[in-house]
Amino acid sequence: MRVLITGGAGFIGSHTADLLLEKGYEVRILDSLDPPVHPQRKKPGYLSTDAEFILGDVRNKSDVQKALQGVDSVFHLAAYQGYLTDFGKFAFTNDGGTALIYELILEKRLPISRVVLGSSQAVYGEGKYHCVRDGIQYPAPRPLEQLERGDWDLECPVCQQPMQSLPTDELRVTPHNQYAVSKYCQELYALTLGRRFGIPTVVLRYSITQGPRQSFYNAYSGILRISATRLLQNLPPIIYEDGKQLRDYVYVKDVAAANILALENEAATYQVYNVGGTEILSVSEYVKLLSKVVGREVIPEIPGEFRFGDVRHIISDISKIRELGWQPRTSLEQIMSEYFEWATEQPEVRDFYTEASQVMKQMGVIRATR
Ligand SMILES: NC(=O)c1ccc[n+]([C@@H]2O[C@H](COP(=O)([O-])OP(=O)(O)OC[C@H]3O[C@@H](n4cnc5c(N)ncnc54)[C@H](O)[C@@H]3O)[C@@H](O)[C@H]2O)c1
Repeated sequence: MRVLITGGAGFIGSHTADLLLEKGYEVRILDSLDPPVHPQRKKPGYLSTDAEFILGDVRNKSDVQKALQGVDSVFHLAAYQGYLTDFGKFAFTNDGGTALIYELILEKRLPISRVVLGSSQAVYGEGKYHCVRDGIQYPAPRPLEQLERGDWDLECPVCQQPMQSLPTDELRVTPHNQYAVSKYCQELYALTLGRRFGIPTVVLRYSITQGPRQSFYNAYSGILRISATRLLQNLPPIIYEDGKQLRDYVYVKDVAAANILALENEAATYQVYNVGGTEILSVSEYVKLLSKVVGREVIPEIPGEFRFGDVRHIISDISKIRELGWQPRTSLEQIMSEYFEWATEQPEVRDFYTEASQVMKQMGVIRATR
């Protein structure tokens, strides 16, 4: 069985390729070696030579047509990610690429038995909350004036009282930024066209995914890559807001295992699953644990800045995929030490965050409180 992985030269794609090869699948990769992730535009050394590699773009019809020829299934993982304000690139890459895959499957009558789309927890925006008086709420993004006051927490939209953040299940999405909107549109294309034309499709919404091979060049987001590369240079990690934001984190090889499950399990057809972790830590707790695990006890900086478009808390409820037989197996300490060890071995590692943060400040993404 031959499987195409778009974005297979990237972080999650390459680990998925390795696991597929291990299980006896033939693997083809379509990847444009997009500069934010691969600035040298070179095929990364970690890619298995057993995987066929096509240099091409998911926005280009003839590239996608060539990549789809003769494959049985597709992992669609190529995407433009982050917080920058080039909104068009999010839509053209993420949504245009997804629509093109379905267009070609239909136009060329390709016998594709499965498309697995890598989506994101970002589609939940601020996610699910509970108000003691008004029950379950899915709040709107925090207004800019609130964030500029350094007032971080969400209030109940009905009674304006504090609310409690809850693990968010798959039932309702409230995307709040350009990346999240583009990921949800991908899902709509994939599931709508998949159902309508009988192209079995599965959507997986990954939480913050971590592990070796995560490109440290793309330092616009990613708590582990940014903090670890700064600690390696003996620079303090930077924490946005007050550091009390809650997140869940998942190991990349656990995500690769979820991908294979979505490929192989018939019951997953046309379903959406969260793929997340069980260790819920605030950003400050996370950075503290990382410093301890890697043996560099540097006090982080909390400069009173925030990323406009970021969410306060988001934690995925993974009950649904557990029922399918998947669970996260790797502890946060293991993930952190493995990533740090890998980053230490990379000759080109340095602090890419300082430059990325300047770009984000110029674009009004990182802002200061007043
Ligand atoms: N890493 C995470 O924490 C995370 C969390 C949630 C969802 N996701 C989703 O998982 C998928 C994989 O993410 P990742 O972390 O491996 O990212 P990554 O940046 O490491 O890999 C993405 C790959 O896609 C390629 N690519 C980008 N634009 C392309 C284009 N136009 N044509 C062809 N290839 C292109 C890049 O060159 C890169 O190799 C993405 O769809 C992402 O939105 C990732």
